[in-house]
Amino acid sequence: MNIIHISAECFPVAKVGGLADVVGALPKYQSTSTTKAQVIMPFYDNAFSKNNSFKSIYESVVNLGANSYTFSVKVLNEAPLDFDVFFIDIPDLLFKTYIYSAEDTERFLAFQIATLNWILTWGNAPDVIHCHDHHTGLIPFMLQESHKYKALKDIPNVLTIHNAQYQGGFSHENVNLIPEFNFNNVGLLDWNGYINPLAAAIKCAWKVTTVSPSYMEELKEKANGLEGLLREESGKCSGILNGIDWNVWNPETDTNVIANYNTDTIESGRKANKAYLCERFNLDVNKPLFGFIGRLVYEKGSDLFPEVIKKSLENNTHSILLLGSGNKDQEQEFENLKSQYKGSYNAYIGYDEKLSHIVYAGADFLLMPSRVEPCGLNQMYCLRYGTIPIVRSIGGLKDTVTDISQENGFGICHENVEALEISNAIERGITLYNSTQKFNQIRKQIMEIDHSWNASAQAYINLYKQTK
Ligand code: ADP
Ligand code: GLC
Repeated sequence: MNIIHISAECFPVAKVGGLADVVGALPKYQSTSTTKAQVIMPFYDNAFSKNNSFKSIYESVVNLGANSYTFSVKVLNEAPLDFDVFFIDIPDLLFKTYIYSAEDTERFLAFQIATLNWILTWGNAPDVIHCHDHHTGLIPFMLQESHKYKALKDIPNVLTIHNAQYQGGFSHENVNLIPEFNFNNVGLLDWNGYINPLAAAIKCAWKVTTVSPSYMEELKEKANGLEGLLREESGKCSGILNGIDWNVWNPETDTNVIANYNTDTIESGRKANKAYLCERFNLDVNKPLFGFIGRLVYEKGSDLFPEVIKKSLENNTHSILLLGSGNKDQEQEFENLKSQYKGSYNAYIGYDEKLSHIVYAGADFLLMPSRVEPCGLNQMYCLRYGTIPIVRSIGGLKDTVTDISQENGFGICHENVEALEISNAIERGITLYNSTQKFNQIRKQIMEIDHSWNASAQAYINLYKQTK
């Protein structure tokens, strides 16, 4: 079975969030003696394209309405990855220092058209085309409806929704950008008067998945306007929980952390990582350390941290360390708070992959007060590193974290995204930290929870088989 993943992100090539981690890991775990998984993604102007060498294997032109753009398909000269990646290079549109911008309609439409033009030239078409998020959402529609891609019509395709908040909508005035199709079916593109790539994909894909069973259920009630559509299409929809790359995220071999450790050496290993963080960020190593890693956006609940910091740091019982970037007002506010809470709060505003690994390995608890969390990978990374997750029970967080008050519980859960509830959850964390024996026993226990990709990679293969 030949599987093609099409995505805007893939770790370590280009990453904004968890989509990259999933597309960078799933193909590895899907590649066996009987299946081969490959990735098609845009070619960006980033560190990966600068530090590697590539050759073109195909050159052509992509038409977008009245405009045409030259493009090439590139592959790596050497193979630093565990699977093949084909890069769509459209210098005028995709080769930018960023992945996403406010004006992405043409960029990702051109990416999708170029991708299909190229697949059309293959002698051996793939057995499955697996699209990720709205940036690839017009592919199921074009496969089904565009005259040009008739030869690809029978290839089963699957959409995975990583986040239904983002849908990529644009005006019907731009419908001419899409390769010619039977206009009687233009309704397949539409949602509420706009061309909505995510809605079109939900309508046209053979199967639709999202990244946790709970999020699938939540989407039927609340999906940024698409809830009715998801209810209607529920027969082909399912939730498959993400896994994590067991090799990249392994405290015993991770080259990013200060000291490696396993369940036997957890105490000394974690101590060294915490000591590094406390030294670097001027925090008290003897107090419990609560970390946060993530995009600073409304969905992550990070806007509540200033209030949480003010409420919970009054008693001088613990420290908070934030690592994130995003909303500029939040970034500024987090910077401003530094001088006020010197010694018990600090933040690194920016994106730093290495530092994120050290936080997973050195913080005692990881805060995830998400309003929306389709799956969430951070909680699974922190479990693997023996850091106790404090999560709002929603989406994938609900599916992966059990509160300590329950049988075999290992995390701290709260129901609502409110500063008071987050502060109370922190208080529960401090109580647990002070019950040293229980705290240490839980840290060991969570390192052994298996969230590797094996089971979920197989679940996708089973799903592809159902499309036959
Ligand atoms: P989302 O995809 O919604 O951002 P996930 O939990 O699925 O959330 O994945 C987030 C990924 O991005 C994780 O690998 C996390 O470690 C990483 N990450 C987020 N923000 C940062 C940051 N500022 N620096 C380093 N890594 C980050
Ligand atoms: C999205 C979601 C996140 C999920 C990730 C990978 O970015 O916000 O919850 O873990 O995709 O599927």
